[in-house]
Amino acid sequence: METVIIFERWLHITAGILWVGLLYFFNLVQMPAIAAATEDSNGPGPQAIMKYIVPRALLWFRWASIVTWLAGAALLGPAFIAAFTLQPGFVNIGIGSWLGTILLFNVWAIIWPNQKKLLGITPADEQQKQRAKRTVALTARINLVLSLPLIYFMSTQAHGVL
Ligand code: HEM
Repeated sequence: METVIIFERWLHITAGILWVGLLYFFNLVQMPAIAAATEDSNGPGPQAIMKYIVPRALLWFRWASIVTWLAGAALLGPAFIAAFTLQPGFVNIGIGSWLGTILLFNVWAIIWPNQKKLLGITPADEQQKQRAKRTVALTARINLVLSLPLIYFMSTQAHGVL
């Protein structure tokens, strides 16, 4: 059983690094790069980023979020309800798990459907694309901010801060 928990923790942390790592890539590199490429009238434009980088990054981002959540839930195991109802002894990991759940919701219910409009997967007119762009940027920023306390709360359970 101990081996299973070690594997779950390894999978959770590895997928969490990929998920949050891409979240930071989107906020700190990709969005500023697309804005700079769009503004640079003498440059190649953002098409290459949208065609070759964004779809790949979003694929790993989406599925890393699912693996992180499922491995985290498995790590909670019988304490799942106690954590999500913030019972004594599970308050910090509970808050961290709720934050992770909000991040997951934002990825699948807000960011991905709007990104599909920007990538031309879902039909959208110019006005809808502009709204989708603003929604993706705002939600990515919200997830960036929420990831900071999430990582604090995640690292408390295993180190005795309950
Ligand atoms: C972006 C999302 C998440 C990231 C980056 C993340 C990251 C981490 C990290 C780095 C640890 C190890 C802390 C340590 O040992 O010092 C951890 C532990 C843990 N995480 Fe998450 N986590 C995320 C979301 C979740 C979610 C959604 C759940 C529950 C559904 C969860 C449940 C747990 C549990 C139970 C532990 C404690 C494991 C133990 O006993 O060592 N995590 N998480």
